[in-house]
Amino acid sequence: MTIKAAVFDAYGTLYDIQSVAAVTEDAFPGYGDIITQIWRVKQLEYSWLRSLMRRYEDFSVITRESLAYTIRVLGLQHDATVFERIMDKYLHLDLYPDARAALAALKDKKLAILSNGSSDMLNALAKNSGLDRVLEAVISVDSKKIFKPAPDAYTLIEARLSVTPDEVLFVSSNPWDACGAKAFGLNVAWIERVTPEAMALACVKSDVVPPLTMFKALRTQMDELGITPDHRIHALSELPNLIA
Ligand code: 2OP
Repeated sequence: MTIKAAVFDAYGTLYDIQSVAAVTEDAFPGYGDIITQIWRVKQLEYSWLRSLMRRYEDFSVITRESLAYTIRVLGLQHDATVFERIMDKYLHLDLYPDARAALAALKDKKLAILSNGSSDMLNALAKNSGLDRVLEAVISVDSKKIFKPAPDAYTLIEARLSVTPDEVLFVSSNPWDACGAKAFGLNVAWIERVTPEAMALACVKSDVVPPLTMFKALRTQMDELGITPDHRIHALSELPNLIA
């Protein structure tokens, strides 16, 4: 079956969530790395907890609540201005360096984002990064009131782009998302940005494992769910050849 659409996860796939570290470090010197990692771990955890509890709140609420949790458990004090400055970075995340060129090379496909982000967050992000000009759709799970990797979330691709699951290549660097999309029935390219060899080396080398290494161990390596994505690539730049 020919691939008619390439659909991307947003946070961690097109946009580098680690780029918040400069802002968190500036706000809380010495704590940038640990805030960045706990924040993301908790943000995802809250999305899954709220989905399981049927207590959906959109991703902007979850992102605020997980940041509040992080600052609190680290015993830090903040004022509203600092909090908003950190939150604002979520609307101005850095694109991965190869994102723009990869999307340009795929312009004969329908291109879209399917993300757990709220519509407001995603539209701002796409506009601020200029991706609004190349994407046919920026799809938030918000209308389903449940987060990926729930199957319902992935149904939005067919509904919005009028393509069947077998005509879609779904691209994510998040292993849980790649597994969810594959379980749903999409063709999936998983971006393995951190190889197991690099991971093992990072753990062996350091006396004290830094928060980023812990995060990479938790969130960048393929999960043991008995699900294997169709493709394992290492960068967005590999996509044009993969689809061709
Ligand atoms: C997404 O963009 C949360 O990274 C996840 O859907």
